[in-house]
Amino acid sequence: MRIIVAITGASGVVLGSRLVEFLKSKENKGKYELHLITSKSAKKIAEYEEVNLDESRSFADYCYEEDELDSSISSSSYRIDSMVIIPCSMKTMAAIANGFCDNLITRAAENILKLGKKLVVVPRDTPLSLAAIENMRKLKSCGVLIVPPNMAYYYKPKTVGDVTNFFVGKVLDVLRIEHNLYNKWKGGD
Ligand SMILES: Cc1cc2nc3c(=O)[nH]c(=O)nc-3n(C[C@H](O)[C@H](O)[C@H](O)COP(=O)(O)O)c2cc1C
Repeated sequence: MRIIVAITGASGVVLGSRLVEFLKSKENKGKYELHLITSKSAKKIAEYEEVNLDESRSFADYCYEEDELDSSISSSSYRIDSMVIIPCSMKTMAAIANGFCDNLITRAAENILKLGKKLVVVPRDTPLSLAAIENMRKLKSCGVLIVPPNMAYYYKPKTVGDVTNFFVGKVLDVLRIEHNLYNKWKGGD
């Protein structure tokens, strides 16, 4: 399975790095061909949030900068199965929702939408502007899977790592990828 993971400059860059780590973990060896795109802002946020994006890049099969619009994945003829933008800034979400594709992340997402493939967006901001809500509505109407990193308490998280795993697990759920990152609700009986 060929997956593009894009990390943009919203808070929660660790979510992208954890997803990359999971997809390229020993238990998933050889299952996923991972194409990783990082935006310029993502690198800045990674410094603030002390996330090692170089390590994520070392796990990926192919790495791109946001301005590499001449790369293979910029073309819709390059076969990609799904794409996840995690975390997704309101800026990147606005660009995709409105067809403004001036970097490799928004261009690759546009290709995914054109071809009716799976696009998962993990929008991170709070509170939300009306524009962000409208852009989410537009994306949803194009079939985009919107998985905001919203907290839940029922699984009794104890550490930030537990919370990160929960959010990443929710993304894996919509991709239909098996995982043990959080304990799924099994009913209240
Ligand atoms: C410390 C910090 C945290 C930020 N967090 C968010 C955020 O959670 N959500 C968001 O939409 N933008 C956030 N931003 C603003 C984005 O980084 C900015 O809009 C940027 O242009 C996004 O670019 P990109 O989508 O190309 O990565 C943050 C900026 C800084 C400096």
